[in-house]
Amino acid sequence: MEKKDIDWSNLGFGYVKTDMRYVSNFKDGAWDEGTLTEDANIVLNECAGVLQYAQTIFEGLKAYTTEDGHIVAFRPDLNAERMEDSARRLEMPAFPKDRFVDAITRVVKANEAYVPPYGSGATLYLRPYMFGFNSVIGVKPATEYQFRVFATPVGPYFKGGAKPLTIRVSDFDRAAPHGTGHIKAGLNYAMSLHAIVSAHEEGFDENMYLDPGTRTKVEETGGANFLFVTKDGGVVTPKSDSILPSITRRSLMYVAKEYLGLKVEEREVLLSEVKDFAECGLCGTAAVISPVGKIVDHGTEICLPSGMEEMGPVTRKLYETLTGIQMGRVEAPEGWIHVIK
Ligand code: PLP
Ligand code: COI
Repeated sequence: MEKKDIDWSNLGFGYVKTDMRYVSNFKDGAWDEGTLTEDANIVLNECAGVLQYAQTIFEGLKAYTTEDGHIVAFRPDLNAERMEDSARRLEMPAFPKDRFVDAITRVVKANEAYVPPYGSGATLYLRPYMFGFNSVIGVKPATEYQFRVFATPVGPYFKGGAKPLTIRVSDFDRAAPHGTGHIKAGLNYAMSLHAIVSAHEEGFDENMYLDPGTRTKVEETGGANFLFVTKDGGVVTPKSDSILPSITRRSLMYVAKEYLGLKVEEREVLLSEVKDFAECGLCGTAAVISPVGKIVDHGTEICLPSGMEEMGPVTRKLYETLTGIQMGRVEAPEGWIHVIK
């Protein structure tokens, strides 16, 4: 298979149109058989549920070329399950898990020429999504839906790759208590756009959102969960009902405990204790694990002892072990790697 002529090592996190995508339609209470298509465009009625009431959910996962030349996806079953949770919360029909994994597999195979080579630093990002298709004018769920998966080769989410980030404590909230913060709904990201644009304008890489109820506890950023490393080398991650249950974070917590023998804790994390941590990282499919060097809380700087030059030692070990598992250099726990080719 001849690869596309792409400068893999200099890819950013952007959209590159690939050859094939998957589409399946839900109508009269059932999903059709689904197909691959070359057509990247969607024609919608002006009154489609997604356009009027933002009835849309999505997922994000990656396919990797392993050291020995296979193409694999990382834990797609967990993305399928999370998408079912998202669908239930927005009154959408679930797309069956086995069909989700099959759709991923077919899209990767059909776009093999776009799967970045091993060692290039790039990966193939997969974006499954589903939206209300038919017209709705009263506030109610659509009755017809479209499920799609497209693929795009990507590089690091944050410019500068592994260079520590500077983030700010946001005055905006991302999710309401008992709202939709725990699912992957497009509306959560629309909510965050003003906050991210103004953070960038002020020179910050991302926002740290606090719990909207008390504004004292750390939640997450616009696109990743937090991991903190304590001064005695334990790993702590915030527990909250209004953050997205990151698959990367769950995997890293397992890696920290079972592979690295570290103490791990999922618990409420107060903003006031962040100054006492040794390292901080943002974890997610796109972010992988991106180190944070500085957190600015309304003019007060919290400088992590790991500094602004490189990842802290525990963050690095976590990064190396996780990416090692994903690229076949480190033996994976049972069921984590879905072999596509
Ligand atoms: N939190 C938010 C808000 C996200 O958008 C993402 C990305 O998917 C994550 C966390 C990380 O989740 P995962 O590791 O499953 O990609
Ligand atoms: C992902 O990591 O897959 C996400 O969806 C996060 C988004 C900010 C790109």
